[in-house]
Amino acid sequence: MANRKLGFGSLFSLILILNLRNSVAAFVPADNYLIDCGSLTDTKVDDRVFEADSSRSWSLNTPKDVLTNITNPNSVSSLTSSSLYLNARVFTGPSSYSFPIKQQGRHFIRLYFFPFDNQQFKLTTSQFSVSTQDNTLLSNFQPRPDSTTAVKEFSANINHDNLILSFIPGSNSFAFVSALEVVSVPNNLILDTAQNVNNQQTYQGLSNQVLETVYRLNMGGPKLLPVNDTLWRTWNTDGVYLINANVAKNVSYAGDINYVDGATSPEIAPKIVYSTATELASQSSTLDARVNVTWMFKADSSFSYLVRMHFCDIVSKALNNLYFRAYINSWSASNNIDLSTLSANSLHTAIFMDFVVGLPAESNNLSVSIGPSDSAGIAPDGILNGLEIMKISNSGPGAVVEGSSKSKIGPILGAVFGVLALVIIAAVVFCLFRRRKKAKKQQSKTWLPFSINGGTSQSLASRTSNITTATSGKNGNLGYRFSFVVLQEATNNFDENWVIGVGGFGKVYKGVLRDETKVAVKRGNPKSQQGLNEFRTEIELLSRLRHRHLVSLIGYCDERNEMILVYEYMEKGTLKSHLYGSDLPNLNWEQRLEICIGSARGLHYLHTGSAKAIIHRDVKSANILLDENLMAKVADFGLSKTGPELDQTHVSTAVKGSFGYLDPEYFRRQQLTEKSDVYSFGVVLLEVLCARPVIDPTLPREMVNLAEWGMKWQKRGDLDQIIDARIAGTIKPDSLRKFAETVEKCLADFGVERPTMGDVLWNLEYALQLQEAQSPDSEANSINRIVELSSQVQNMNNLGTVAEGGIANSSLNDLSDVSMSRVFSQLIKSEGR
Ligand SMILES: *[C@@H]1O[C@H](CO)[C@@H](O)[C@H](O)[C@H]1NC(C)=O
Ligand SMILES: *[C@@H]1O[C@H](CO)[C@@H](O)[C@H](O)[C@H]1NC(C)=O
Ligand SMILES: *[C@@H]1O[C@H](CO)[C@@H](O)[C@H](O)[C@H]1NC(C)=O
Ligand SMILES: *[C@@H]1O[C@H](CO)[C@@H](O)[C@H](O)[C@H]1NC(C)=O
Ligand SMILES: *[C@@H]1O[C@H](CO)[C@@H](O)[C@H](O)[C@H]1NC(C)=O
Repeated sequence: MANRKLGFGSLFSLILILNLRNSVAAFVPADNYLIDCGSLTDTKVDDRVFEADSSRSWSLNTPKDVLTNITNPNSVSSLTSSSLYLNARVFTGPSSYSFPIKQQGRHFIRLYFFPFDNQQFKLTTSQFSVSTQDNTLLSNFQPRPDSTTAVKEFSANINHDNLILSFIPGSNSFAFVSALEVVSVPNNLILDTAQNVNNQQTYQGLSNQVLETVYRLNMGGPKLLPVNDTLWRTWNTDGVYLINANVAKNVSYAGDINYVDGATSPEIAPKIVYSTATELASQSSTLDARVNVTWMFKADSSFSYLVRMHFCDIVSKALNNLYFRAYINSWSASNNIDLSTLSANSLHTAIFMDFVVGLPAESNNLSVSIGPSDSAGIAPDGILNGLEIMKISNSGPGAVVEGSSKSKIGPILGAVFGVLALVIIAAVVFCLFRRRKKAKKQQSKTWLPFSINGGTSQSLASRTSNITTATSGKNGNLGYRFSFVVLQEATNNFDENWVIGVGGFGKVYKGVLRDETKVAVKRGNPKSQQGLNEFRTEIELLSRLRHRHLVSLIGYCDERNEMILVYEYMEKGTLKSHLYGSDLPNLNWEQRLEICIGSARGLHYLHTGSAKAIIHRDVKSANILLDENLMAKVADFGLSKTGPELDQTHVSTAVKGSFGYLDPEYFRRQQLTEKSDVYSFGVVLLEVLCARPVIDPTLPREMVNLAEWGMKWQKRGDLDQIIDARIAGTIKPDSLRKFAETVEKCLADFGVERPTMGDVLWNLEYALQLQEAQSPDSEANSINRIVELSSQVQNMNNLGTVAEGGIANSSLNDLSDVSMSRVFSQLIKSEGR
């Protein structure tokens, strides 16, 4: 049994084209204006030179008489950038700088103010606004009367050839500035989307917002000065914001930090930010002492803030030991942060998560908390390595509400990188096992809800909560509703030792019903909204889909706010576990092809078996389960959607899926089609051939991503060089060639170039034929067979809405419910309700 127990990490192979990396070329800003305003000489600050106001690669569009440069009469001491504060430019009338922009995109605009008083001007009395041609940055700004320095940092997406930065004095007042910077930053520094914690929806349109940095903290570590940061940011310490310092401790790590290629880099935050953290200090060894670590910040009521949390697991000795939650104010930001999963199954890897929070009108507090996971049996822990809080300038009272789920779809690139921040990879993986028993077909017809299109859209919520008896039969589409007590009993009261899989959604337990039928019981976390949606999706989909190559749902339980799904038990576990990472016996090439063919049938049925195609969205080897005869069934429909013409009320643009399998085109265009499943399936095919993880960060860079690596060899015609050594010599060259061509087509860059699942199936059948072909003679046979297959595919496609599809001798044989009805009838009996 142990070899079926699936590690959490191994089930979620991490994303996409993201390779881990250690070293990067330094970022060189295309636009880099640094000005020491009012100064007659250049000023060097660390390794950067702030030019004198008089040297002009920019222009100052100002009548001469409103312009004065003044010098601080007092010497300024002990200020880091003190030399920038010796002079100031004073504007007694509206004035503006114009900066030619070499590269449009996001820029930092930093304004330095040191309000000193001299004979002519008391800068402490100034009052003014600063704006770009598109946005107001500071409105009626007044420096602090105690003459302290202030640096205001904004980031704005500049889509003009020039940035016009205007200083507009308030009435009877004047404006001033001590120094300023206009510097390009990488566009992926700010992604377009983030999770809105107020309503759990995706906030879109951040790319075009002006953000004001209000807090930037290096948790548990030293203050970082501009010289310590590739983008010259300042990171303060977090101690003063902690409201319960006694439950927090500093942690640090002296080794190297990894970045995730394409998602994090020193520009997101320097390594030193990730190498220190504030950790939740356990109060005692008992699990009951649960507390949050909370930081409290002043913020402006009614405004929205972008809150970026930086994480890096520097505390765990091994993967999958750290699970925790994050809150913003009292809203849950993330229910289950699992850094191992988010960082491609590696420790010491930098990631971040972005959230948007809208403050209510009455609140000037913004708090961020890290707290223990409430999953049973997980030690209270949690860390935060860095935190940035950025005010969305255009939000606030009277602002046009942006970022609702209906808003326009922003630039797609953001979403690519947004994945880490947004995707809570909900693909809950479970390992299902099933004991199959023979039963008569007739029985299955007595209760199975075969209606594919007739499946009502009855939602769980609309069901009355006191139905605890079977809802089977021709009118019930949601399968059997179990009472909680029955499942408690079946799983030995959710015995931790009976866990056969763990995922973001919750745990999967082995269960034995009273009649000895083995089942797999997936218990979701009742508090997760995401979980609830997936729970419904899965019940609704699986209740109306029945196919020999799709895993069967036996029933569910929604009593006491529980979200529990009960599946057939799949004796042999996941396809993945048979390929690598376990000591299960090797599968030969024919067995592997059969499994690929079976799963392709399941997917083909999903795509074509009902009026609207159903897109699985999380095709991977861990979601292909095997019964005791190694028959493949596709599982985990929590993320599935009908498409491509998505139901407009349920548009979700958050890209979901699993790293390493995700269709790059889906990232680029955020448009989901069946071809995304085809891509993921192509990755599975490669995995089957090469028997290695789709993302393996321990390998040399070019080998990390299996899809890239495999395609490199295939393009050279040398794919045979990297196949699983255990089967390499046994594959017939023709079979391999056919298989490799199929993989290549599935992995085409553009969906339109990829084959349909039906074509893939056909090609795999052909590859099997070629493998089984005895002699040159049989070539003719296989060609006949191909013609036959092809006409079956044709028929299949014509079947359209017929429920039980399948190819080649499919129809009724493909119904998997034979044993199900038996299970069912016994359930009803044994429960006796
Ligand atoms: C102000 O700057 C101008 C050059 O821009 C210079 O000619 C002038 O002498 C400066 N005035 C003061 C008071 O420093
Ligand atoms: C944590 O580190 C910071 C910065 O180095 C320091 O100011 C603070 O006192 C430390 N806190 C504890 C509890 O050691
Ligand atoms: C920041 O950089 C300065 C100058 O290079 C260096 O002395 C200092 O140790 C650095 N601080 C940290 C925390 O790395
Ligand atoms: C942590 O804070 C959240 C939000 O305020 C709260 O709901 C939760 O109960 C707290 N957890 C603990 C263990 O105090
Ligand atoms: C805001 O925070 C302060 C300081 O922690 C606290 O005293 C105050 O009650 C908080 N206000 C609200 C509305 O939560």
